[in-house]
Amino acid sequence: MSTQTIELSQPIPLVVSPKSAYLMCSPRLYDVTYVINPWMTDNLHATSRQRALAQWQRLYNALEEIAEIQLIDPQPGSPDMVFTANAGLERDGIVVLSHFFHPERQAEEPYFKQWFQLFGYAVIEVPRETPFEGEGDALFSAAGSRLWAGYGMRTAKESHRYLERAWNVETVSLHLVDPRFYHLDTCFAPLSNGYVMYYPVAFDAVSIAQIENFYPSHKRIIVSEADATRFACNAINIDRTVLINNVSRELSERLNAVGFKVVSLDLSEFLKAGGAAKCLVMKLSKSNPNLAG
Ligand code: ARG
Repeated sequence: MSTQTIELSQPIPLVVSPKSAYLMCSPRLYDVTYVINPWMTDNLHATSRQRALAQWQRLYNALEEIAEIQLIDPQPGSPDMVFTANAGLERDGIVVLSHFFHPERQAEEPYFKQWFQLFGYAVIEVPRETPFEGEGDALFSAAGSRLWAGYGMRTAKESHRYLERAWNVETVSLHLVDPRFYHLDTCFAPLSNGYVMYYPVAFDAVSIAQIENFYPSHKRIIVSEADATRFACNAINIDRTVLINNVSRELSERLNAVGFKVVSLDLSEFLKAGGAAKCLVMKLSKSNPNLAG
């Protein structure tokens, strides 16, 4: 047996990872088995599990280079669990858990709850009568001073007050009016350095005014319908990097011109269920002491 002694006279420095952290779920059990948004119509069982796994793995690999990834196990009977953005919204170790609008996704809730509790997050639940679909419908501005919260399709406007209270953060409600863009993260993406990328047609006039009041015109990147329907706004942004489904050359160049590096991915299998890059991840704060790194 080794008698090696370990010198502990110096405090061990805390290894603080500079990386962002994200929660993902393998598409091992991914499928389109019901229709709860217009993208799923005509796509029942039309996805290829093999292609989905390959596309997801490429996203995982690209993200892993710049961020830390945590995984939750997929569960039988919950084919949409791969879209972890809908698990809840987290900041400073506090998670407001989702209560899904559609019964088809409600079976995911206890699994996500269990995961957050296991990793030491404080879990807040909104009343069942006021559905809330997590990061899919709630996005912090890049500097974190404001929470943008969507309603009108899945999330109930009344749930927004629980978000405001959870972090004592100014919360502005945005009304979604186009069923193709049924979650806020399908048509709106706050980006670093004060930029925002969005598809105005998805919002009512009051909401557009709220967005324009916050973001000056030179910081607004308005996407075309063609790019919006390629899920351009469903982008993962970490500092200067934007990970995104394949979009037009014009939009990539626009993003490059204002300093972003675009990582294009083919996420066609996930578009069949109404999701792309951003839907496949949920942001976790680095400050959670129970997360490795
Ligand atoms: N099929 C899923 C649903 O309709 C897709 C979720 C996409 N997630 C997102 N954050 N937009 O619920």
